[in-house]
Amino acid sequence: MTPLIIDTDPGVDDAFALALACAAPEVDLIGVTTVFGNVGLALTTRNALRVLALYGRDDVPVAAGAEQPLVHPHPHRARHVHGADGLSGQAETLPERATGVAGVDAVSLLVSLLESAPAPVTIVPIGPLTNIALLLAAHPGVRSKIARLVVMGGALGGGNVTAAAEFNIWSDPEAARRVLVEEPVPVTLVPMDLTTRCAVDGPWLDSLAAAGPRGATLVSLTATYREHYSRSLGRDGMVVHDAVAVAEAIKPGLLHTTAMPVEVDCGYGPGRGNVIADQRATRNPGEGREVDVALSADLDQVRSFLLSHLAG
Ligand code: BDR
Ligand code: CA
Repeated sequence: MTPLIIDTDPGVDDAFALALACAAPEVDLIGVTTVFGNVGLALTTRNALRVLALYGRDDVPVAAGAEQPLVHPHPHRARHVHGADGLSGQAETLPERATGVAGVDAVSLLVSLLESAPAPVTIVPIGPLTNIALLLAAHPGVRSKIARLVVMGGALGGGNVTAAAEFNIWSDPEAARRVLVEEPVPVTLVPMDLTTRCAVDGPWLDSLAAAGPRGATLVSLTATYREHYSRSLGRDGMVVHDAVAVAEAIKPGLLHTTAMPVEVDCGYGPGRGNVIADQRATRNPGEGREVDVALSADLDQVRSFLLSHLAG
């Protein structure tokens, strides 16, 4: 079983991603670290603990990480998308976990999990990349313990926070640049261009709600988020960005990737947080460090994979 760590800022789609990792028999969820993002760190941490409690996963260590981006603190959150508590106002309806956070910070937990794992670990960062940048900057020795980073983030064809930037990258561009451009660790980047095409619809959500109490609880967390996405999609449904990245970590190759160098715009103009992927056929080989960018997939297969695992 592949050892898996999720670095997360729950968030409704993060809750689906955590649920998927708990439900998947193919992976061993060995730890969860939290970061500021959709809401503040105290709430993302509380939400992560409660989603794990829903799945009876008291055994998974959870540690809280960064409260702010590396360089420029900013108050931007996504409460209008995920609700003021991060889970459409329903966080308190989830069970409380008997085990609280580990007595260490996120980077320390990541180091000890990576060093003690029996095999290289897949890490799935599904929030701002601050914790992962700090980990790799302070502990370069753990690079060899990482099988792959499957990062949800970036937008090649138009962002969701600004015209250029997707939320996770925009929230800490300097951290994103460190991880995606500077660090020699294998990366699969799952941008919102593809996750948006994997959007689930009303009947998909109805099937999940009907599958059992956990599925019904997950769907009960979606009201604010589903309303937001239904407006932007123009039909009933929602985009489960982060769960698509976890699905790729569980079933490598589910998403189709192309290797290309990327850059992250850390300037202070309208392009801040943009991920610039070099797709030129004429680029010089060896120019820039390549990451595998997920650009396509069998969309129905992705939706079925998500439903069958979450409903199981
Ligand atoms: C990303 O931003 C967050 O709001 C979601 O949880 C996801 O990680 C999508 O842009
Ligand atoms: Ca997220």
